[in-house]
Amino acid sequence: MITRRGLLQGGVALGAAAVLPVGQRSLGASAEPLVLTATTGVAPLVDDERPTRVWAYNASVPGPVIRATQGEWVRVRLRNRLQIPTTIHWHGIRIDNAMDGAGGLTQEPVAVGEQFDYAFRVPDAGTFWYHPHFRSAQAVAHGLYGALVVAERDPPAVDRDLLLVLDDWRLDAEQQIDVASMGNLHDAAHRGRLGNVLTVNGRPAPGFGVRRGERLRLRLLNAANSRVLRLDFGAFAPSLIALDGQPVTPRALGENRLTLASGQRADLLVDVDLGAGEVAELRAVTRGGAALAARFEAGEDTLRDEPLPAPVALAANPMPRELALGDALAVELRMEGGAMGGLAQAVFEGETLSGRELARRGQVWAFNGQVGMGEQPLFTVARGRTVRIAIDNRTRWAHGMHFHGHHVQVLGGAAHEATGDWRDTVLVDVGERAEFALHADNPGRWMLHCHMLEHQAAGMATWFEVA
Ligand code: C2O
Ligand code: CU
Repeated sequence: MITRRGLLQGGVALGAAAVLPVGQRSLGASAEPLVLTATTGVAPLVDDERPTRVWAYNASVPGPVIRATQGEWVRVRLRNRLQIPTTIHWHGIRIDNAMDGAGGLTQEPVAVGEQFDYAFRVPDAGTFWYHPHFRSAQAVAHGLYGALVVAERDPPAVDRDLLLVLDDWRLDAEQQIDVASMGNLHDAAHRGRLGNVLTVNGRPAPGFGVRRGERLRLRLLNAANSRVLRLDFGAFAPSLIALDGQPVTPRALGENRLTLASGQRADLLVDVDLGAGEVAELRAVTRGGAALAARFEAGEDTLRDEPLPAPVALAANPMPRELALGDALAVELRMEGGAMGGLAQAVFEGETLSGRELARRGQVWAFNGQVGMGEQPLFTVARGRTVRIAIDNRTRWAHGMHFHGHHVQVLGGAAHEATGDWRDTVLVDVGERAEFALHADNPGRWMLHCHMLEHQAAGMATWFEVA
């Protein structure tokens, strides 16, 4: 459970303290790469006197915000100064396969002390992120991740664009990352690694000063290893304008709540309707209560009195318009395993093993009877064809499935996902059989895995090939 520690810290970091460092305004103009050095460091996650030892990009948690404009090239040089090999995956970018950063599939992990240059064009405007894709559970739990914000060529008028990167840390009494519990089988077989301290932009419950009448664009990212965040916006009444970087027709959030699984993002517009001194609280609701994530406090001055016109939709990204569903390749992905529904047997590294033998190897989940990355892809499809994927969740746990290199359109069957939305990560709840359409227009070998990183490490990963 998230502790109340965040609550006690509320209000300490009012204003600028939680503003993220900017990596580079826009990368398009320059051929010089932005250097991201992955190394160990410290971050004042809970308080400044007792910082937490973390792994970080350029000594910052979250890492630098990478900003580009739609259609530009992004160039990043990753320097690995960690003690383990690493990569960077550009989550949600419909990228050239060779730049996808999937360690072991699209590139060899970058060895300790080595470097690797990434260069790719960003076809879509929106809110994306980056993180290692080799021993991801361990690396992300230590703090290696950052946001990648791609601006629209013609951005919507807002008074402020605020990025809120949420994370759920498991810290010990000394406020250090609980390393001993990493990789344990209990977490892997249940809801993954859940933390006890919630941070926004690397701080507990930061405060943001706002003005009456101000229009905010909030970009939310769930960078937690596994926790599904149920976010309550309190006195704010946001309009949802994009999910996972893809615009949606602006719509209100039901009960002003938003569900974000690990890896998912949402862009919201909020018109601040608070009197001087009034506060809107962003809270993460849990079964036992709620943890404060951030506070928005209105100052004395009013920016405008008249309400603004209703938000208009963001310009669409260049997504496929017509999906040939009638002629689609039908693919079934059956999820099995985990606590309270264990595997009888499944194939792992070419051998058929009993559930007990698999558990001994740290593996507890399977897709279609295969544990982890098999020799064969889940499917191979010719470029240009549409795939209709049914994800049949026969486990007792929800899973947030992430598709690499593509977004998928929700066809139905997932209570947390609205039909017609395009997403790169979809939450499929217990017992659901949800369907998604993927237009296979990006050639290469792509991962498809649960973004609850402990589930991924314990078997929930496969791949597909666009030929
Ligand atoms: Cu955000 Cu395959 O990862
Ligand atoms: Cu999962």
